Amino acid sequence: MVTPVKYRMTQAGKDKLEAYSAGIIRNPGQMIDPHVFEEIEEQIDLARLVPGLASTIPYEHFVKALRLALLTESATDTYSVQFQEVARNHDAGWLAAFNDRVWDPDEQTHRTPYFRTLVGMGCDPAELQREMRQAQERTFDRKGANDPASITMFGTNQELLTDGYHGAVAYTLKPYAPLAAHGIFLVKKREKLHTEWYRKMTGIQIEHNPELLANAAYITAHFEMPENQVAPQYAAMGGQYWQMMGQNRAQVVKDLLRVFHQLTGDVHQTGQFLLDVGAEKGIKVRGISVKFLRALLMQLHMTGFIGEVVLQSMGLTYLFQKEEERTLKGGIRALLRGVVAERVGLSSVAG
Ligand SMILES: [Fe+2]
Ligand SMILES: [Fe+2]
Repeated sequence: MVTPVKYRMTQAGKDKLEAYSAGIIRNPGQMIDPHVFEEIEEQIDLARLVPGLASTIPYEHFVKALRLALLTESATDTYSVQFQEVARNHDAGWLAAFNDRVWDPDEQTHRTPYFRTLVGMGCDPAELQREMRQAQERTFDRKGANDPASITMFGTNQELLTDGYHGAVAYTLKPYAPLAAHGIFLVKKREKLHTEWYRKMTGIQIEHNPELLANAAYITAHFEMPENQVAPQYAAMGGQYWQMMGQNRAQVVKDLLRVFHQLTGDVHQTGQFLLDVGAEKGIKVRGISVKFLRALLMQLHMTGFIGEVVLQSMGLTYLFQKEEERTLKGGIRALLRGVVAERVGLSSVAG
């Protein structure tokens, strides 16, 4: 079991977080101009779109896949309230300011291309609005994300997955409704940036209090997309919609692993993080529980080796490969790592 620690941040850490947040506020990148979405509705030609989609995702499923994204993007205020509460409880002005000045206004633009696309596809705007209000009224419980490190880690996971989902929708739409695809693609680009920001914020907190790695691991192990709570009528099929739209599961796992490693860039911490997540989730590798392996590997001081093995088994060796492999000891380590990575295999880690 992994137990989150009580949140503490050094003054140097707070200063760095303040500076990072202020930098984003000064330069939030290209925010979305809602005018770019104005002609989406008119340009949707159902006579092209419906038969076009048949080879990927049946039309009625596609409508629900879009509604799912619309409702998830509509509940921004619900998420925002929680960020503010956590920020207030932990005197994290940097988080409150980022949330208020950049993240919230940015997210408010994300529902528009979905709304217009759905209206263009024949959905009743009044009914969509009713569903949106319903989603906004639902409460959302970020189980266990009660401190700034947990909440920024939650954000990292959520934004990365959302980025992937928007991408799948945009690519599916592109051949038949390029303007709608463009609108959703703009949203995808913002989510990518959000992932980066939350990842950096989490990394800074761990850098200044390494114990918070446990909080990041705990929230990752218990992570659940908010749509299960804000849009339960569509969420159950969300994974299947994404798969129909061409989700590459191995790529998603690879992207998550890359981001996890980039939290600290340190293979020991990556190994520790992955063992914590695996133990907390009750994952088994080749029939052996990670909870058991974790205790053993920690005692043998092998967390770094495990971090490297997992990254290598997912083709991410470039993230950590170092000069030391030119030495005999380093060469042997690399050889061993290769053998173990191959035996562990991608699928057992991804599962
Ligand atoms: Fe969003
Ligand atoms: Fe976002």
